[in-house]
Amino acid sequence: MCGIVGYLGNKNAVPVILKGLKRLEYRGYDSAGIAVLNGGLQVAKCKGKVADLKKLTDKDLHEATIGIGHTRWATHGKPNDVNAHPHTSNSGDLTLIHNGIIENYDSIKEALIKRGYRFDSETDTEVLVNLIEDVQKSENTTLAKALQIALNQVIGAYAIAVISSNNPNQIVVAKKGSPLVVGIGEGEYFIASDATPFLEFTKSAVYLEDDEMAVINRGEDLEVLSIKDNRTIDPYVHQLEMDLESIEKGGYDHFMLKEIYEQPKSIRDTLRGRLLPNEGLVKMDGVYQFQEKFVTAQRIIIIGCGTSWHAGLVAEYLFEDLARIPVEVEYASEFRYRNPVITEKDVVIAVSQSGETADTLAAIKLAKEKGATIFGVCNVVGSSIARETHAGAYTHAGPEIGVASTKAFTAQVAVLALIALKIAHKKGVLKESYYHQLLAELDDIPNKIERMLESDAQSKYISGLFKDARNFLYLGRGYNFPVALEGALKLKEISYIHAEGYPAAEMKHGPIALIDEDMPVVVIAPKGGQYEKVVSNIQEVKARNGKVIAIVSEGDSEIAKTADHVIEVEDTLEEFSPLLTTIPLQLLSYHIAVMRGANVDQPRNLAKSVTVE
Ligand code: G6P
Repeated sequence: MCGIVGYLGNKNAVPVILKGLKRLEYRGYDSAGIAVLNGGLQVAKCKGKVADLKKLTDKDLHEATIGIGHTRWATHGKPNDVNAHPHTSNSGDLTLIHNGIIENYDSIKEALIKRGYRFDSETDTEVLVNLIEDVQKSENTTLAKALQIALNQVIGAYAIAVISSNNPNQIVVAKKGSPLVVGIGEGEYFIASDATPFLEFTKSAVYLEDDEMAVINRGEDLEVLSIKDNRTIDPYVHQLEMDLESIEKGGYDHFMLKEIYEQPKSIRDTLRGRLLPNEGLVKMDGVYQFQEKFVTAQRIIIIGCGTSWHAGLVAEYLFEDLARIPVEVEYASEFRYRNPVITEKDVVIAVSQSGETADTLAAIKLAKEKGATIFGVCNVVGSSIARETHAGAYTHAGPEIGVASTKAFTAQVAVLALIALKIAHKKGVLKESYYHQLLAELDDIPNKIERMLESDAQSKYISGLFKDARNFLYLGRGYNFPVALEGALKLKEISYIHAEGYPAAEMKHGPIALIDEDMPVVVIAPKGGQYEKVVSNIQEVKARNGKVIAIVSEGDSEIAKTADHVIEVEDTLEEFSPLLTTIPLQLLSYHIAVMRGANVDQPRNLAKSVTVE
């Protein structure tokens, strides 16, 4: 987590870095800091958001053409002014920003203390900057060389940038396990955790790989080196396709709301060129390449975290139902540590919006070592997971900035549905007519979401009634069980109301004890599947005075008689109902959070991209 930004060029670095940090706040926002060189080192840092830092810089910081900045999500040491980055070495020469964790920082710190170093903060980062200084002094060498030697002593993950007070013409950066991209402009360089901070200045970008470092000198070409053996590496310059508009709020109050409303477009973009209902085809190069592996897979294992794990759960139903392949869905963090049995006949699908989640990345590496075929479903092009997998299919949801994932989820489900359909068809396990019906229906889903989004009055009204509830229960069965989990997660994340998602039938084995007149129960009950059984579950809640908010198919008069409130969704095939039933749950959590005065886009303690274990 944490976001890092740097600039070296002719502009004033301060506003460039502050604006860049603002764009990276989704990665962490408990403290922020900036360091610039202007005849000497100037540092401003504080607990709080980039907006707080801006107030400091307005007072304290002069113009400069080189600088680095950081927005933090605390791992070592609580959020306060001292622990905020950048950190400066004891002599005052080196200043560093860091995204990641140095695991062996304790032993390095002890050794440095014995050598006379002192530490002000509780961070692993302050240890790293002093280690580099110590190496540089004892080896009497350049900053780049000292950094390289130091990093070979370090265990952990990092994306770092270092500047020296003695050299206002150089930034040295390095990457392992955390993302780092260098933007190349006309006579200027940018560095950042993702490309959004420099999108308005350049579209040329070099994504560093793990174990690579780069030396950025004013007026010179970018030099990329291997950290392990000092080998020079020819950098590949990507031309970015993202535009500025896609990372701005565009008139909405929050990114989350904008992203909810973008779903018809993001699903259309994700299906475009892949779903060809008139030709009866699903075209996906990545899947085509590994078609045989999928078709003959003894098992598909889907790994992910958070919302991506929920998309994986929906896919479990799709793959088993349509393609008749056994599926296991695993939290990446559990999978990687439980010595899983994996063979070459397994296909592992890693689902990740950011493509940077540390646990998912580590789980992929483990499965790869054991010989499985790894397929990625990522949203961020060129991300670490996208690069680590054998093949993959991107979700074309566009940048997702709100910390609570919305459009990425539905785009993930759309991609996973496409894969399931393609494999099912190839295996010949689906009735041809039903296959065609599924293709046509999937194609129509964005239109249905568009119509559903024409009014959110009902979800807003219901939000007003329940905004002060202390607990919520979400129930669903079959395809809509993962939706119940996702609905509950959305509410927890942004409104801080305790919520639990449960398979509706399991309610009687525990959660039913919680039900009384103060317990709102959201029941996802569209037509199809186990509809009648869910109706009985609603009766069970009502019999105990619970308040039922039911998500139903349009025109459902049966549930309307029993439930306290209903929100209608358009009719669809059961397989795709999660794509519709999710929408009102996103809106419900959004409106409740707004009514409670919560920070919707930057909920407390969370970060969008979790690049630490
Ligand atoms: C964080 C985010 C969640 C996200 C999860 C997995 O917890 O706050 O919204 O679902 O990470 O992220 P990924 O980028 O791998 O999908």
